[in-house]
Amino acid sequence: MAEQGHRQRPRLVLVATPFQGHINPLLQLSAILHSKGFSITIVHTQFNSPDPSNCPDFNFLFIQDGLSDHDIASLDLTAIVLVLNDRCRLPFQECLAKLVEEQETDDDRIVCVIYDELSYFSEAAAHNLKLPSIIFRTNNANSFLARSVLIEMYAQGHIPLADPMSQEAVLEHPPLRLRDLPISSFGPMKNFFKLMGNARDVRRSSAIIYNTMDCLEESSLTKLQQQCHVPIFAIGPVHKIVPAPSCRLLEEDSSCMSWLDKQAPNSVIYVSPGSLASTNEKDLIEMAWGLANSKQPFLWVVRPGSVHGSECFESVPGGLREIVGERGCVVKWAPQKEVLAHNAVGGFWSHCGWNSLLESVSEGVPIICRPSFGDQKVTARYVSQVWRVGLHLEDELERGEIERVVRRLMVDKEGEGMRQRAMNLKEKAELCIRTGGSSYNSLNKLVELIKSF
Ligand code: UDX
Repeated sequence: MAEQGHRQRPRLVLVATPFQGHINPLLQLSAILHSKGFSITIVHTQFNSPDPSNCPDFNFLFIQDGLSDHDIASLDLTAIVLVLNDRCRLPFQECLAKLVEEQETDDDRIVCVIYDELSYFSEAAAHNLKLPSIIFRTNNANSFLARSVLIEMYAQGHIPLADPMSQEAVLEHPPLRLRDLPISSFGPMKNFFKLMGNARDVRRSSAIIYNTMDCLEESSLTKLQQQCHVPIFAIGPVHKIVPAPSCRLLEEDSSCMSWLDKQAPNSVIYVSPGSLASTNEKDLIEMAWGLANSKQPFLWVVRPGSVHGSECFESVPGGLREIVGERGCVVKWAPQKEVLAHNAVGGFWSHCGWNSLLESVSEGVPIICRPSFGDQKVTARYVSQVWRVGLHLEDELERGEIERVVRRLMVDKEGEGMRQRAMNLKEKAELCIRTGGSSYNSLNKLVELIKSF
């Protein structure tokens, strides 16, 4: 395969965590490092395996993860990641040993293993083979710091919170409130903290890469670096640095692009809960009414299986198609980056997954934040209180409130200010990756470090 043409490049092995919000930035990082002269081998589980045919420049290796269909159907997300870390260690070690054995010259030797923080099983294998390793954190510095506060509170017996909706300030991390701490709702608490503790541990890795940038998180990055004994490289937004292939786990419906072409500039609100968050039928019906009553056109992603009790949008009782009417375009999966770059899109109702946030900020699109779990809650707080590029929809979903929030963002003067600040952030993000910018410089230092191994 394409590997042939790259025999003389030093090789990097990148280990993915098998979820869309992790695969996308890993491929983007791979494309960047490929452009810097490295040959790329991506190691992936069989579970949620992407189609490598979209990525001719990379070599893909799939390892046996030992996850049965029964495991996939019965385990929660946290448990799946823990099980993968237990079961992938050996297959990965064997796979890596084989790659090392097959090295032909010093020029194509494996210089380093770069692994997603949730695939920490990779570190032991790299260490056993005397290979350096680097952690890739696909989320952000603020969430990492907030997670550390949470781990500390758990150790002191303060978790679960007496009131999970508490407005009380987190003194170590303003402007967060207790309710914004990045707790996950998947599975038992002790599993969640086990995973978070493991993901936080740097082990013997040599550096950490973050898909973030100074213009969003300079002070948190400085604080993180002070606490950390290895260098941190903030090189984001990685999707904007070089064109990268995409590997979608769901089929994309690009018909929405021609629908967008027919809408007025800045008129459309794009609604997407990302790749993991789900909702119930009642909330979906309130959303449909709220969006329709706002009188703004909207593009709405409803993933199959994301509505509890219904297989897809059409099977939700309540005549959603009629409520949505002509004003709404509903798809199962959208080409999100292209959607956000379209001039008809004037707002993003988002769960605040970190990739979505970066994609929105990079196009100057203001946000209605509706976080579900984990880091999304931290990001939503920063969007509304610090960067001030959006509104936080916090209470129970109710059609009247949804209608008001959409109009505040899309029509009112208040929304104009947010759009202006979002455009300013877009410019700052562009400067970060341009020659001499903070992410540009960080990336060069990262490449120097890798070449020094
Ligand atoms: C998960 C966690 O939910 C999130 O908090 C964490 O930061 C990353 O992992 P996910 O739900 O996948 O995130 O959201 P996000 O980080 O936004 O990533 C979703 C990716 O899928 C984005 O790159 C987005 O462009 C893409 N996407 C989403 C599409 O291409 N089409 C869609 O219709 C929806």
